[in-house]
Amino acid sequence: MNIREYLKQKKDEVRSEHASQAKLDNFIDKNSDGISTLFTYYECALMEVETKFKVLNQEYSLIHDRNPIESIKTRLKTVDSVVDKVQKYGVPLTLESIEKNINDIAGVRVICSFPDDIYTLAECLLEQDDVTLIQKKDYIENPKPSGYRSLHLIISIPIYLEHKKRDMKVEVQFRTIAMDFWASLEHNLRYKNDIPEELGAELAEELLECANISSSLDVRMQRVRKRLSEDTSEMDDIIDEALWM
Ligand code: GTP
Ligand code: MG
Repeated sequence: MNIREYLKQKKDEVRSEHASQAKLDNFIDKNSDGISTLFTYYECALMEVETKFKVLNQEYSLIHDRNPIESIKTRLKTVDSVVDKVQKYGVPLTLESIEKNINDIAGVRVICSFPDDIYTLAECLLEQDDVTLIQKKDYIENPKPSGYRSLHLIISIPIYLEHKKRDMKVEVQFRTIAMDFWASLEHNLRYKNDIPEELGAELAEELLECANISSSLDVRMQRVRKRLSEDTSEMDDIIDEALWM
């Protein structure tokens, strides 16, 4: 390609970037009311799901005397990142299409103490009458090649508005503390694009090994916790027996 052709190509690229930015700005300007209503609905859905987990955590601690949830984080995607995703998926840029095609506008991350707690909580959530499972990705059973582990659910739940009920989609990610710690470190590597290729590959390999070690630590600590609680319940039985005599 000669310099003239190269410059023309660059000019076309800049033009098309401007055109698509103008299209996005136009969409956001024209739909600002609709967008803010839709995002408020997603925020309500987040509150509903967060409350469900808080209730489950309270009840579990009543029965089992410990909390399966370490923390709950909620996040709403920004309008810009939703629009980016619409473009990435190549779906129409309309409010209906956003709601239909983007599943993770509302996100809840539930950080648990042990891997078993993840499956217990997911089961309790999905048993609820008003929760519908849309998609499940079990990256604990089948970790990503990077070593990423987490259980992802896309659910639909109703929010109750002044005169209507509206079903909203929420992405729920369940992780142990160790899985979450690993994911945030790996996230830093993923979004750092100024590291040399060789170092990047070395760190990715190191992280994969960390993921495996961290997963076996999760399993071992869970085993210790189980043996401890079995021992405690045996002791309860002995005390119970003694009281009957
Ligand atoms: P997204 O377009 O990123 O939402 O991907 P997806 O639709 O294929 O969904 P997936 O369930 O695979 O991943 C959704 C989210 O999980 C991501 O946005 C991240 O928060 C997290 N995630 C998935 N894979 C990885 C990974 O390899 N490393 C880290 N750190 N996070 C990941
Ligand atoms: Mg996502």
